[in-house]
Amino acid sequence: MCSNPDQRPLDQEPEFNQFVDAAVSRRRFLQLTGAASTVGFLAASPMSTAVANTLDNKPELIGFDAIPISTADNVNVPNGYQADVLISWGDAVLKGAPDFDQSNNAQAQEMQFGDNNDGMSFFPLSDTRAVLVVNNEYTNNEYLYPHQGKKISADDARKAQAAHGVSVVELSKRDGKWQVNIDGRLNRRITANTEMVITGDAAGHPLLKTNADPSGKEVLGTFNNCANGQTPWGTYLTCEENFNGYFANSADTTLGETYARYGLNNNDRGYDWYKHQDRFDMAKEPNEPHRHGWVVEIDPMNPNSTPKKRTALGRFKHENAALTINNDGRVVVYLGDDERGEHLYKFVSKNKYRPGADSNRDLLEDGTLYVAKFSGTEGELNGQGEWLELTWNKNGLTPENGFPDPASVLIFTRLAATQVGATTMDRPEWVAVHPDNQSVFCTLTNNKHRGVKESQPLNVINPREKNPYGHIIRWRPSQGDHSSNSFEWDIYVLAGNPDVHPESMMAGSDNIHKDNMFNSPDGIGFDKAGRLWIQTDGKYSNQGNFAGMGNNQMLCSDPNTGEIRRFLTGPIACEITGLTFSPDYKTMFVGVQHPGEDLAPSHFPQGVEAIPRSSVIMITRQDGGVIGA
Ligand code: FEO
Ligand code: CA
Ligand code: CA
Repeated sequence: MCSNPDQRPLDQEPEFNQFVDAAVSRRRFLQLTGAASTVGFLAASPMSTAVANTLDNKPELIGFDAIPISTADNVNVPNGYQADVLISWGDAVLKGAPDFDQSNNAQAQEMQFGDNNDGMSFFPLSDTRAVLVVNNEYTNNEYLYPHQGKKISADDARKAQAAHGVSVVELSKRDGKWQVNIDGRLNRRITANTEMVITGDAAGHPLLKTNADPSGKEVLGTFNNCANGQTPWGTYLTCEENFNGYFANSADTTLGETYARYGLNNNDRGYDWYKHQDRFDMAKEPNEPHRHGWVVEIDPMNPNSTPKKRTALGRFKHENAALTINNDGRVVVYLGDDERGEHLYKFVSKNKYRPGADSNRDLLEDGTLYVAKFSGTEGELNGQGEWLELTWNKNGLTPENGFPDPASVLIFTRLAATQVGATTMDRPEWVAVHPDNQSVFCTLTNNKHRGVKESQPLNVINPREKNPYGHIIRWRPSQGDHSSNSFEWDIYVLAGNPDVHPESMMAGSDNIHKDNMFNSPDGIGFDKAGRLWIQTDGKYSNQGNFAGMGNNQMLCSDPNTGEIRRFLTGPIACEITGLTFSPDYKTMFVGVQHPGEDLAPSHFPQGVEAIPRSSVIMITRQDGGVIGA
């Protein structure tokens, strides 16, 4: 992988030294005490009480003035901050790419920035050179094609495939600002047609073999790349989420439980790829969908490297991959499965991370997968939990229960989670590990089925019927050991609308008020100081249950106090998703995804008559300071 030393990421790669430092110093797990606190709702939890008791000498984390909601077609940030567009769907990534035009063909799109940018990571190479790796999750027919997708030709399908995947873009810093370097030799497009290999216990299994690949180890492409992860050995993790939407069954037969559980049915979601390529027609290639729904590891430092699908991390609708280094050196990756009633997972590597060692490159090939089970007292909003091991021949994952071999547990991870008794969740989206490496946060975005579907009754950690607003949970592994099977948890924030529902649980927790309301938390991430950044993918009607919430937004929270302040509002009908920082934390990169979806009246970012385009936004402070401080 990092074969050219010139292209190794710098040691000060931002998101990881903090974890490694924490692991090395073996800082003590925060001792819990029973003393009273003054943080309102959060006082309900022993964890928040412990945090409150450590606050005496801590500086205020959040240093900007909150901004109001917006329904305008632009990006707003606080006074003293500036937001610039770095790159938009269709902008050149490879030299020779044509300028963006809605009528660009597949060949053009293969050289341009993909659509619907989502998770992303910043890899510094020097003070003035870096690589930004960005997921391109999906496409919108209404904007991708001048004909809005009325009849999708073979070239149209290829264009959509080329707009999916991952964009690798070199940046250079000029006059104090990062900008795209079109001449960068690391620039690359990875698409739904890029050659990849499958690794881990499921590689080569009969369920992964197709006519085009009798080995079951070689696969074309990645798509519906939602969020991401970054490793301390310099690779990028891209997570395959709603892969089911690209497959159809032209035979119109009934597909079994192993398909149904993944949302695979006879119809795709309007992409029509199955009409032009047999691999997307399950009547012809029933195993192709088993080759998607994985976490893919990419070496952005080598544009010729082959991406690797890591089956050890399980197959589901992967949201992101929050990686940390445990005290003992093992790699732990927390993983959400974003679907109503699905689960929260954890991977623990077999081998240990050793700074600088080549052996790190295959740490994600072998390890143990776990799924979370939460317990507690109803109404308490905090409690205990355990990680249930998903290993073949353990916990009932046996042939008589439908798991004939180790690979079947990985390929049908969702079924294995049900078999062991995992807790159904309200759509686990992003997970983020606090920089002190002692606590972990996860967004549960919303779930209209909670308390309505028999299979998803109310439970201690998903306590609201239909959960229209979502919540963010956090947990602390016992003794600060991420490989421990036990943890304690609490609900960090229940989003809600205290104006519309002043008296009920729908008002949200005490850290929600009329000036910071939001719904459907989705992307989250920490900066080095421990500020938690929260992005939303919610209802933007600004009416009814959602009155006073405006367009989708990004907020900043201080986990020490529970305070939440609005930092950014996005354009019309967008989602805010994806965030990463330069190593000095003076530039923040934020994703604006699908402005104007469903033909809503957005012209972001170009304005006037232009069609809306997903874009990466770059945020700086006019005084050159650290973002959020
Ligand atoms: Fe791609 Fe669950 O968001
Ligand atoms: Ca998401
Ligand atoms: Ca979402």
